[in-house]
Amino acid sequence: MEPASIADLLVSMDRMPAGWERAFRAVDRALFAPDRVWPFTYDGQQHAVDRTLDPVAWEEAVRGNTALVTQWDDGRHTGPAPGLVASSSASMPSAVADMLLDLDVHGGERVLDIGTGTGYTAALLAARGCAVTTVEVDEHLADQARKNLARAGYPDVTVITGDGAHGHSAGAPYERIHVTAGVRHIPAAWLEQARPGAILLLPWGTDYSPHDAALRLVVEGPARACGPFTMALSFMKLRAQRAVPPAIDLPEGWPGVARAGATELSLADVVGGPYDPIAFVVGLRVPGCVPVLVPGEGAGDGTLWLTAGGAVPSVAAAGFARGRQPNVLQAGPRSLWSEVEEAYRWWDRVGRPEVFDFGLTVTVGAGDVHQVPWYGSLDHEIPERS
Ligand SMILES: C[S@@+](CC[C@H](N)C(=O)[O-])C[C@H]1O[C@@H](n2cnc3c(N)ncnc32)[C@H](O)[C@@H]1O
Repeated sequence: MEPASIADLLVSMDRMPAGWERAFRAVDRALFAPDRVWPFTYDGQQHAVDRTLDPVAWEEAVRGNTALVTQWDDGRHTGPAPGLVASSSASMPSAVADMLLDLDVHGGERVLDIGTGTGYTAALLAARGCAVTTVEVDEHLADQARKNLARAGYPDVTVITGDGAHGHSAGAPYERIHVTAGVRHIPAAWLEQARPGAILLLPWGTDYSPHDAALRLVVEGPARACGPFTMALSFMKLRAQRAVPPAIDLPEGWPGVARAGATELSLADVVGGPYDPIAFVVGLRVPGCVPVLVPGEGAGDGTLWLTAGGAVPSVAAAGFARGRQPNVLQAGPRSLWSEVEEAYRWWDRVGRPEVFDFGLTVTVGAGDVHQVPWYGSLDHEIPERS
């Protein structure tokens, strides 16, 4: 029996975006997946599925609602074992569909698609009648995507090999910018290359979490865009914006020089699960703070290290062990644990809002991009610290 298509899957899940069914039926994800893929699993145990060794499992994988890792370690890794960093994938179909819904495309728009990967999302946009320019930083992936797009019947998609952070000015102005790589700092080029009124949709996040939230900005001009977060999701990041685990730089005399304290909170309160809003909210309110969790023996035990750079770095450690009151040590100009705790308490006090209760205003001035988060409404900036 022919396996169900991605279109059937989205319809059965009630996740087919209005107006997109024809495009999803026209574009076969199997034409974009390489012969070896690693279906994403939440336990981090990725296993290769090889078309030549197990064609049935491969068909199931490419027609399932799973992100498929297609490249590790920027192409340096070979062989069936997973590499260290998943560097390209065919995104999860329901996440692709949710993002396309937010992109609010009607056909005919000039679209800049950042992070070509396999070319699947670029093909969907082309099948929807958009004029698509897509940018992929990895030369090998860009070449393969060109072949995939031609084979699937979309040779008119322009595939640019380059850093998507620069956009592609030759194709500007764009009415839609669709980004399928996670972003921490929005490049000025995207605002500058967008037509006023354009929609810019991207996975955005903070230093506090590896996860993202879809951000739907409406571009007001080359120097300003504004809009809400619409849902929690997770994407591999733009190459230059991947988090590098910080070295924990303890000041001389640690722990004696640290300010000692205690807390009533638990580790789970300030860490949360992958799509819980708390890590997102802490990241918005405590900018520049990078957590490193060292798990303990029991559930809920461990030490949460917090670091932030600056002329003089700040560091904090909150230790959690069953049966003992958590102890806190903080050093440097910022009291990072206090900031995180205050962010949790603010979030709790205002009724534990979700990611879609927040938004971002982005302005470009003197070559710098400023990202100012807000809560509830535009004139309601989130106080970073009280
Ligand atoms: C999640 S995948 C994209 C999925 C893709 N849209 C698809 O349909 O298969 C993210 C892609 O972004 C690419 N990427 C990372 N940094 C980039 C950058 N600075 N410019 C352009 N592409 C980038 C990665 O190489 C990877 O292929």
